Amino acid sequence: LSSSSTYTTPPSVLLLGPDNAGKTALLTLFERGSQPAATHTSQVAHSIELNASTDSVTRSSFRNHDDATGTHTKFFLVDTPGHGKLRNVAMGRLARTEKVKAVVFMVDAAALGEHDILAPTAAYLYDVLLFLQKKATSKGKDKASIPVLIAANKMDLFTALPATMVKSHLEVELSRIRASRSKGLLDSGVGMDDVGSEEQDGWLGEYGSEKFTFQQMGEFDINVEVLPGSVLTEEPGADKWWWWIAQRI
Ligand code: GTP
Ligand code: MG
Repeated sequence: LSSSSTYTTPPSVLLLGPDNAGKTALLTLFERGSQPAATHTSQVAHSIELNASTDSVTRSSFRNHDDATGTHTKFFLVDTPGHGKLRNVAMGRLARTEKVKAVVFMVDAAALGEHDILAPTAAYLYDVLLFLQKKATSKGKDKASIPVLIAANKMDLFTALPATMVKSHLEVELSRIRASRSKGLLDSGVGMDDVGSEEQDGWLGEYGSEKFTFQQMGEFDINVEVLPGSVLTEEPGADKWWWWIAQRI
């Protein structure tokens, strides 16, 4: 019998984000090392095992599983369904997966200019960030500050917003969501110092601030970065995301 103390689970990286963002396409690209597979709407979470290296010659390329010049770290990449009706599947994975080292929240940069897409994307991201903020401030044994990569995908399309605009659009929408979800809290006449910790716990980012910025998550040691890429084309490709992941596992 193997003792449980010698058994170690590899770390996990979770792929979250709305439907049609390109999560499954990215997973198949990393898995195959060549080209992504054709995908259809995911209905269940799916996890694969990968190896990343931060010291091999091709360290910053996702094709580095073929490179024998470095030390590789094994990790699980967990794909989740993005459909709103299956949100519990994705959030359940986030809550229950052991050793989550990073979250990659993928968005469709070519669709984010439309409010119909921006609003639900930001609402989902809000829930994820608030969950991570609560985890970072919890006192339990699973207290952790998990970094977030916002992977701005589909940069090959001419309608794609540049990464700086993906970031600012999301921050504006997250500010709006925060204001509506905490309505009454700030204008209740209660001084900021009198507000209970419970109320502060439900507030995303810097308490009482007017505008939400990703930088405010730094207060909880949560680093949020936005990086552009594309799963389907070589340029800009997926290497920046891979390198970001490789450094965090
Ligand atoms: P759900 O499973 O519904 O959550 O969606 P998903 O995030 O897994 O999306 P999926 O990987 O199935 O990709 C959705 C569609 O976007 C597919 O038709 C992909 O081929 C396409 N797609 C993915 N990445 C890119 C990209 O970089 N550029 C372009 N033009 N299309 C992409
Ligand atoms: Mg999918």
